[in-house]
Amino acid sequence: MGRLNDILEANKMTEKGTSGIYELFSQKNINFMLKLTNFTQSDINSIAKIKDCIGDIAQETVSSFYDYLMTIEDVRKIILSKPGLLDSLKLTQYSYISQLFGLKYDEKYFANRVTVGFAHYVNKISPSIYIGSYGYYNTLITSAVMICCKKNGISSDESINILNSVQKLLSIDITLAIEAYYQKSIDDVDKTEHDSLDRLIVLAEYRDEDTGRHISRMAHYSKIIAKGLGMDKIFQENILNAAPMHDIGKVGIPDAILLKPGPLNKDEFEIMKSHTTIGYNILKDSDSEVLREGAIIALSHHENFDGGGYPNGLSGEKIPITGRIAKIADVFDALINKRIYKPAFMLEETVRIMKEEMAPGRAFDPDCFGAFLKNLDEILDIRKKIDSEAA
Ligand SMILES: [Fe+2]
Ligand SMILES: [Fe+2]
Repeated sequence: MGRLNDILEANKMTEKGTSGIYELFSQKNINFMLKLTNFTQSDINSIAKIKDCIGDIAQETVSSFYDYLMTIEDVRKIILSKPGLLDSLKLTQYSYISQLFGLKYDEKYFANRVTVGFAHYVNKISPSIYIGSYGYYNTLITSAVMICCKKNGISSDESINILNSVQKLLSIDITLAIEAYYQKSIDDVDKTEHDSLDRLIVLAEYRDEDTGRHISRMAHYSKIIAKGLGMDKIFQENILNAAPMHDIGKVGIPDAILLKPGPLNKDEFEIMKSHTTIGYNILKDSDSEVLREGAIIALSHHENFDGGGYPNGLSGEKIPITGRIAKIADVFDALINKRIYKPAFMLEETVRIMKEEMAPGRAFDPDCFGAFLKNLDEILDIRKKIDSEAA
């Protein structure tokens, strides 16, 4: 997979997009496409009959293709926007035909299809232009195949078979290229979503914590607890991304209360409690699943398992599981670190307070608390790691 790695590297794929492409590129998927199109060895044998002839007229086909594309104003503008682009496109297209009719449908062939898909996205070629030009390209290939069949004295029945095989190949080809295009675009949307999320979170923590490390730490603890509970990978990723928003509603709390060094009086505490509902209202209608999960955590991370928490006094399993998990992560991090209203506690004291004063069954879900204790070493490791990275 060396070549594929180079391609991914060159296209600066993020982890998520990369795994998407790997999946797309996996042998299983390729086999699936081959099966679906019923592309077999006999198709390869058919294509072999015109391979050399197509090679001879490939140059001509490429020229016709670009002559046509250059008559479309929007495409022409894109192609002429970069010096040398037309020549390099022609060259790519030429090597593509050689590959298409080279009869070696191996890793390199499929990797090239993926690159072509990326390249069109990266160069901001709209899907309508991209897919549309495939249509025109198809007509050129069809007529090239017919010309070659005629030249080689192939019967018309046999010609239709060959054309069929070429069509199957083209449909696999376009599927891969468009999948790659689509994956790359999803990847970019995700990046934008993450970026806005990060900004939103920074806004909330800016006024509260002295560093942004609290939210990063508690989000990672939440993920570890979720893993300890046997939740799947998607759940773990979701809670990792959503938990940082638990206190986002603090943007709506006045500084005099939020930054007060001592304990809050009853009225102040009532206002402070509203950070849960404020956060929920900010996030709840989002199109993003992660933000909606953030809304749920914002609303439920101060509920107590025995029903004595706020804002809704929910108890037991009526409290969303992500809220029950995030609560433990949040409390642990608040106790073990210094806060404006309290010193940092030692680990033993932190665990004692959580076990005895807050207690599973009272403040915490006993199962979640069990998963927390069982994975405390991993939680301490990630804490150390985050703090050392920030130092
Ligand atoms: Fe909170
Ligand atoms: Fe917090």
